[in-house]
Amino acid sequence: MDFALNDEQKLLKEVTREFAEKYIAPVAQESDDIQKLDETVMEKMKEMNYFGTCIPEEYGGAGLHNDTVSFCVVTEEIGRVDASWSVTTGVHCSVVAKPLYRFGTEDQKQQFLIDLAKGNKIGAFCLTEANAGSDAAGVQLKAEKDGDEWILNGSKIFATNGGIAETLLVVAATGEKGSRKELTIFIVDTDTHGYSVGVKEDKLGVRGSNTSELVFQDVRVPEDNILGKQGDGFKLAMQTLDFGRISIAAQCVGLGQAALEASIKYANERVQFGQPIGRFQGIQWMISNMACAIESGRLLTYKAAYLCDQGKEYGYTSSMEKLVASEAAMQAAHDAVQIHGGYGLMKAYPVERYFRDAKMGEIYEGTSEIQRLVIANHLLRKGIQ
Ligand code: CAA
Repeated sequence: MDFALNDEQKLLKEVTREFAEKYIAPVAQESDDIQKLDETVMEKMKEMNYFGTCIPEEYGGAGLHNDTVSFCVVTEEIGRVDASWSVTTGVHCSVVAKPLYRFGTEDQKQQFLIDLAKGNKIGAFCLTEANAGSDAAGVQLKAEKDGDEWILNGSKIFATNGGIAETLLVVAATGEKGSRKELTIFIVDTDTHGYSVGVKEDKLGVRGSNTSELVFQDVRVPEDNILGKQGDGFKLAMQTLDFGRISIAAQCVGLGQAALEASIKYANERVQFGQPIGRFQGIQWMISNMACAIESGRLLTYKAAYLCDQGKEYGYTSSMEKLVASEAAMQAAHDAVQIHGGYGLMKAYPVERYFRDAKMGEIYEGTSEIQRLVIANHLLRKGIQ
């Protein structure tokens, strides 16, 4: 058992940390304030190929398609500085570019994947609807066949990258399958007539990232834009989320790490009652608990990535790591604010933002309750893993 990153992964970690601290950190608070990502950083992220991390070089990516550990390294380091950026690139890479690479035809890869991998176009994964949140199978957005086209009608909500995306993976109901809905995934170009962006959400956390409602009114999509096969939508969406949760977990590990680092720094600097507050046991316990929880989340996250790279079943571990890492980040951000006292409530200290950002990790790509349900289903149906 080897817990160490290899030399390339270590270098990638170093380079990404340097990049994130140099370019993302100085504008992270502003992105949060204005609810928009910085355009200059966007261009630099493209140059670094961070939109193509999980895609082979032949399709414009960074060639790390078999190295999910490296994808975690990148996502963790970006998340350590700004969760808004890590969810933007993370969602783009893990639940749009990656499934297109895994399940797409060669034509679809040529038409859509190359632009996504190069960051020329941003992607969004469109599953959630007003009445289909945790119950993902309840999708109501309808697709009806008309010759060699499908006509999409309905709307999606809470789509990460929704308002800035140009390539969408849209989960639509295409009929019935026994007692369940038949779901199919369509690749939709946002230039298509009838498509529009609805409400842009004003969120608690990851405010720099775009979250929008998307509206489809008689949107015509060619049959060739079906991802996988008609009726495969639910399974493909679930497999996609298995991978996506690795990315969210890595983001949470980075965010938790940032909260820990800020707490250590503050506890060593802040003097009360004649000594740095880090000398008080109450503060020490919080710092120890944070470190233990974050490291547990990190180990599980990299284990899920490792299993994925070995071609082994990783859905169970991916739910476990997302649950543990997101709850660790939330607790760490909570305690970081507590350690900072009154200053922790002020925007002048980043822990205020970490606290709001951390809550998102416990909700998106499946709430903590859904992760517990997936874990329990695996254990009860398949036994101890
Ligand atoms: N991989 C492959 N197949 C899977 C699977 C997986 N991970 N999970 C389920 N399936 C299959 C099952 O084997 C079953 O197949 P059969 O019919 O052949 O037996 C079928 O799918 C149905 O499975 P379930 O009965 O378990 O399905 P369910 O309706 O009870 O729901 C659920 C399962 C786990 C609760 C699912 O609905 C779920 O994951 N919900 C959460 C949705 C979610 O995470 N949403 C996040 C939105 S995306 C997002 O947030 C992205 C973003 O922008 C940040």
